[in-house]
Amino acid sequence: MRILLFTGKGGVGKTTAAAATATLAAERGNKTLVVSTDTAHSLADALGVPPSAEPVEAAPGLHLQQVDTQKSLERHWGELRDYAGNVLAELGLDEVTAEEITVLPGAEEILALLELREQARTGRWDVIVVDCAPTAETLRLLALPEALDWHVNRLLPTGRRMLRALSPVIRHVAKVSVPEGEVVSAGERLHRGLLEVRALLTGDDASVRLVLTPEAVVVAEARRTLTSLSLYGYRVDAVIANRVFPAEGADEWRLGWVEAQARQLATVHESFAPLPVLTVPYLPAEPVGTAALSGLAARMYGDRDPFARPGVEPPLRFTTDELALSLPLADRDDLDLARKGDDIIVTAGSYRRVIALPAALARREISSAALRDGRLRVRFEAGGAK
Ligand SMILES: Nc1ncnc2c1ncn2[C@@H]1O[C@H](COP(=O)(O)OP(=O)(O)OP(=O)(O)O)[C@@H](O)[C@H]1O
Ligand SMILES: [Mg+2]
Repeated sequence: MRILLFTGKGGVGKTTAAAATATLAAERGNKTLVVSTDTAHSLADALGVPPSAEPVEAAPGLHLQQVDTQKSLERHWGELRDYAGNVLAELGLDEVTAEEITVLPGAEEILALLELREQARTGRWDVIVVDCAPTAETLRLLALPEALDWHVNRLLPTGRRMLRALSPVIRHVAKVSVPEGEVVSAGERLHRGLLEVRALLTGDDASVRLVLTPEAVVVAEARRTLTSLSLYGYRVDAVIANRVFPAEGADEWRLGWVEAQARQLATVHESFAPLPVLTVPYLPAEPVGTAALSGLAARMYGDRDPFARPGVEPPLRFTTDELALSLPLADRDDLDLARKGDDIIVTAGSYRRVIALPAALARREISSAALRDGRLRVRFEAGGAK
């Protein structure tokens, strides 16, 4: 099974690229599922079919699933919802509906990813294509399980003890119920689910395609996205430069764009090398429906096999005396490294990852750290306890 994720800045063509890739996958005989973490029904609109919460066949072999946040919430977060409902009821806000819980930031995307894991588990699909939320949200979301893991492992025991100790006080003061064992276990179940999603999306079968348009602001953001995706362990295997103005027969207005885009494209090729940059022309009409999408996919991938295993190494690797983390396009001035017990905390710009060291390295002191050619290398002193 192959999992392909599409991300990029808002409006650059993520949904279009995802739908086109899925259309091509199905045409080549793969049992294909295309899912969206987006609550707007753009994916269904692009494919020209009505939206549906269950996988529906949009074309032969091509299934579309638009996650129904409401239903999904009831399945996955039932206990938490009850709990939140109780809390809010005790605060005098009765009649709390699940709808009100879905306003929690990121809740919808998280539910979509949990659904994705369930679909992956069925073994029914050869290719799963995911149309992700715009850059920042997707990143925050993808990093969440790991960050949560850190918090849960370190804080939950303390948190629980604290809650137990404080619950009579809180009850008295706030007149609010405090999570009991059953709620914590629902939280833990959710947490385990998210860790599985992360394992799936950073695994050998998954890769991310970064969609951009050749404009300075978009390219700048795509560069930061590449660094942070790598920081979090996601493999990016291609850049898609969408809406490239054709040069033929251009009038003066379009010629201005053609030249500006050519300059940006040169930067894109240079900065993102060795990643392939797949270009898609600005079409004379919106690519809607499987015929248009299939044509777009053919131009996008040319002779390449879009469904081959990603020929990209995982960004994070350990040897007996070294941690190596790919951080393409990372700026040395924006990079920070800290050691906290058995963890290494890497900060790149506004993104942070807590990396648990394997036992063999956790006991040793760091001897040196350097960022060179887009790779962070942290060396550890030979043997011995610290
Ligand atoms: N190469 C192209 N030529 C012409 N129109 C395009 C092309 N690619 C995308 N479009 C159109 O541009 C619009 C935005 O594309 P799309 O919805 O795929 O972007 P998105 O990145 O998914 O946006 P959002 O961030 O809102 O989810 C759509 O109307 C789409 O049909
Ligand atoms: Mg979209």
